[in-house]
Amino acid sequence: MGNLNIKESFEKELIVNFSRKYKIIPSKFHYDLKGSKYFEKITKAKEYYITRIEKEILKKIAPKIYSMFGGALTFVEFGSGSVEKIKILLNNQVKFYIPLDISFNFIKESSKKLIKSFSELKIVPTYCDYTQYLGLPKNISKTKIGFFLGSSIGNFYNLEEKKFLKNAKKTLGSNSFLFVGVDLIKNIKVLKKAYNDSSGFAAQFNLNLITRMNNELKTKLKQKDFKYVSSFNKKSGCIQCFLLSKKNQTFYLNKRKFFLKKGEKIQTETSKKFTFKTFSKLAGSSGWKVSNYWYDKKKCYSIFLLK
Ligand SMILES: C[S@@+](CC[C@H](N)C(=O)[O-])C[C@H]1O[C@@H](n2cnc3c(N)ncnc32)[C@H](O)[C@@H]1O
Repeated sequence: MGNLNIKESFEKELIVNFSRKYKIIPSKFHYDLKGSKYFEKITKAKEYYITRIEKEILKKIAPKIYSMFGGALTFVEFGSGSVEKIKILLNNQVKFYIPLDISFNFIKESSKKLIKSFSELKIVPTYCDYTQYLGLPKNISKTKIGFFLGSSIGNFYNLEEKKFLKNAKKTLGSNSFLFVGVDLIKNIKVLKKAYNDSSGFAAQFNLNLITRMNNELKTKLKQKDFKYVSSFNKKSGCIQCFLLSKKNQTFYLNKRKFFLKKGEKIQTETSKKFTFKTFSKLAGSSGWKVSNYWYDKKKCYSIFLLK
């Protein structure tokens, strides 16, 4: 486990972001233990096609892993979450699995569960911020295969996805591969429903940020004073999620006073949607080459293999 001080960076990054006119909470802060558990609920909502389709595609890829990469592999997963997806791909040629995640207790819980089903596998759970370069252990199998699933490549602001892809390449080292789950532009109604499910899981996941701020930063805000809203921004091709302040309100972060006007929105998530062409261009400009890609019948979702 690494030595990331998430509470300190939560406060620092919120102070910077709340000092701006357009307020943002970076999506990595969604994932305290409760947030990770709400995310798991979202993945099971009928409107959230991403997990379902990505798993179907992974099942098609699984039997090809040996012929593509041979034996003695190390799997490195960026943002491993529940590790449910990697289970589909694990076989006895995979000697090491390094799940990287910012959700400290969740990564511990899911790694413990995984070891029960794969007792021969060496699992090295690593608590870190995956946007930063990370030195991997020295004694792992040489062929490193990275995974960045769940459409997380869409969750960066300000073109930071390019920086992520470059850093991932550095972390994985030369002759490595990276599988990336890429959500594709599609019918807007389908997209909007996925981020505003009828069970209200997306709303709970986003409102949990208020609870996390209260617990960790003593902000004394109330969930009932915020409303979860989401929309599709056609110009940027992104689903955008917000917490809308229902009233004028103030709160403190490290003794600094912040104001929220009635109707003001804090952006809590961005989820960019790609075409085959726009993602290939992004990969190319980040130092990777597209080696292969798979998609479902309706071309809703794709998994790219980069090398
Ligand atoms: C959208 S979920 C995807 C989870 C899983 N890979 C899947 O496909 O269902 C994002 C995951 O990445 C983790 N995460 C988000 N931002 C992170 C960051 N900057 N560094 C490390 N982990 C991060 C979260 O804790 C969460 O487990």
